[in-house]
Amino acid sequence: MKWTQDMKKLIAGNWKMNMNTESAKAFDQAMAKVDEKIVEWLICPPYPYIQHITNTKRGAQDCSAYYSGAFTGEVSASMLADIQCDYCIVGHSERRAEAHCETSDIVRQKAQLVIDNGMTAIVCVGETLEEREEGKAFDIVEGQLLKSIPNDTRPDNCVIAYEPVWAIGTGKAATSCDVSNMHNYIREILKSNVADGEEMRILYGGSVKPDNAAELLNIDNVDGALIGGASLKAEDFIAIGKAVES
Ligand code: PGA
Repeated sequence: MKWTQDMKKLIAGNWKMNMNTESAKAFDQAMAKVDEKIVEWLICPPYPYIQHITNTKRGAQDCSAYYSGAFTGEVSASMLADIQCDYCIVGHSERRAEAHCETSDIVRQKAQLVIDNGMTAIVCVGETLEEREEGKAFDIVEGQLLKSIPNDTRPDNCVIAYEPVWAIGTGKAATSCDVSNMHNYIREILKSNVADGEEMRILYGGSVKPDNAAELLNIDNVDGALIGGASLKAEDFIAIGKAVES
């Protein structure tokens, strides 16, 4: 099915390296009755807890850039498809940063494997504070975006997440004006470079909370949110999704 702009906003939780069996199962129970009419809900737990997600779409936070074989500690895209993941995040800034040093080439390889295995890739892009202060935010995001998305990307197999690094986990979300300018810019890049690029969803991520969700989610070209800290409590996560209605 082709995604169109009047379809649902995607509210995606990225648990990062948090939660355990008990809290994951309790979270899933809390999601049993959420309204799915206008929101598509997604949870991306650490690998061991993915299969505890039964009441929303399920996703992974990363996958291997390799197909299969002797890659100790890696989890392949085909394994994620095998456990019925719908989505996989690739290129999160915490993986692009020094600890993992992922380049946009690696991110593109991962996105390709996600797509080849029938899932949707959530490709993250975003500038650091230093890059923004040097006036390079738009160039950095454009470069990451064009290098990270595979050639056969379409609105139904890829979602973009704009996550300014300086807004992640800091409690300070980007301003509506910054978000609007960057999302409009990304939309233009997608329109010129991707088939049906005007319909590809663009999520905002970085300190999204219940009290700023309505403002952020009502900006033009913000088609959902990628949520870290506030996705660890079902109550907060659900409140963010409900803000879509307001
Ligand atoms: P945050 O994280 O909501 O805790 O800022 C967002 C993310 O890293 O995806």
